[in-house]
Amino acid sequence: MSLGYVTGMPRIFSGIQPSGELHIGNLLGAVQNWVTLQAQYECFYCVVDLHALTGAGYDPQRLAQRTREMAGGLLGAGIDPSRVTLFVQSHVPEHATLMWLLNTVAPLGELERMTQFKDKSQDMESIPAGLLNYPILMAADILLYRADMVPVGEDQIQHLELAREICRRWTARFAPERPVFPEPKPLLTAAKRIMGLDGDAKMSKSLGNTIGVTDTPEEIWQKLRPAKTDPARKTKKDPGTPEICNIFALHRHFSPPATVDEVAVKCRGALWGCLDCKRVLADNMTAALAPVRARTLDLAAHPAQVDEILGDGAQAARRVAGDTIREVQDAMGFLPAPARVETRA
Ligand code: TYM
Repeated sequence: MSLGYVTGMPRIFSGIQPSGELHIGNLLGAVQNWVTLQAQYECFYCVVDLHALTGAGYDPQRLAQRTREMAGGLLGAGIDPSRVTLFVQSHVPEHATLMWLLNTVAPLGELERMTQFKDKSQDMESIPAGLLNYPILMAADILLYRADMVPVGEDQIQHLELAREICRRWTARFAPERPVFPEPKPLLTAAKRIMGLDGDAKMSKSLGNTIGVTDTPEEIWQKLRPAKTDPARKTKKDPGTPEICNIFALHRHFSPPATVDEVAVKCRGALWGCLDCKRVLADNMTAALAPVRARTLDLAAHPAQVDEILGDGAQAARRVAGDTIREVQDAMGFLPAPARVETRA
């Protein structure tokens, strides 16, 4: 039973790590979809700073600034705080409370099978439990708001499947007759996996293969110039195969359809070299990102505005989260806290 029950609108939850600024991978893979969905659904969007503590890039000196920057990036990308609840995960302590409660039913074997856990832990001498338990916190994020749908990129699908499994296990054990949570479904976009400029792996801040939404036109060009293309094109005269070229994939997201067609013809016919193709992409990308860049930079100059939006968001989120936690604790048989004790997590 989500608030959708009250408003008649299905509910959406999604999160993003404050791993630096928004890049075109998470913009195209998830955040543009968040913007579209805000017109049709009741949306909760969260900067997941607790998750960021498990990442290699975590630095206590920079966490607060990065969190604010990411919130500014989301607002710059078009997230409208008058329509959605935008907040920071650690401002709603119920996330950590629910995580512990779900921890008691989460299957260890499944956690160990997660691709991201295996990738990130493989070179570690000592593996922190937080890295293993990361998907349980994701499950808590989603279930706390009783979200019906979760818009994500492809890399998060496995975590979402596990969240669904945790939801089923909790319900079977504690509330089989009267489920507290709907089973959340993933929502993918056409851009479910944006590759990095190295062409080898998904675009990701931790891999240093990104284009940021606030990059200058010159920075965009300097990053695109050496970016990987179709390996068969050793010289300008070799005909290319646009379908396997990451630059062509990016044209599809940033260039008008007529340009995409022209690029394909000129690549196949060796009428353009890769640099010509990249120059056109750089110009179209710069133009497409210009409004996002301008809004994001403006918000970066007004941090108090961002903090106020996040404060309102946290208040709204806590109201919903508190109701869920009370129902969960009832179902799990806790002694209710005495009335004079504030029952905050
Ligand atoms: P994060 O911060 O890595 O990414 C945020 C969103 O962007 C998508 N994404 C991409 N999509 C396509 N191509 C790419 N190269 C690319 N890079 C990122 C991600 O799939 C994601 O949707 N664990 C999550 C955050 C999270 C969350 C949640 C998401 C925490 N709790 C609950 C959904 C529901 C993460 O690290 O995303």
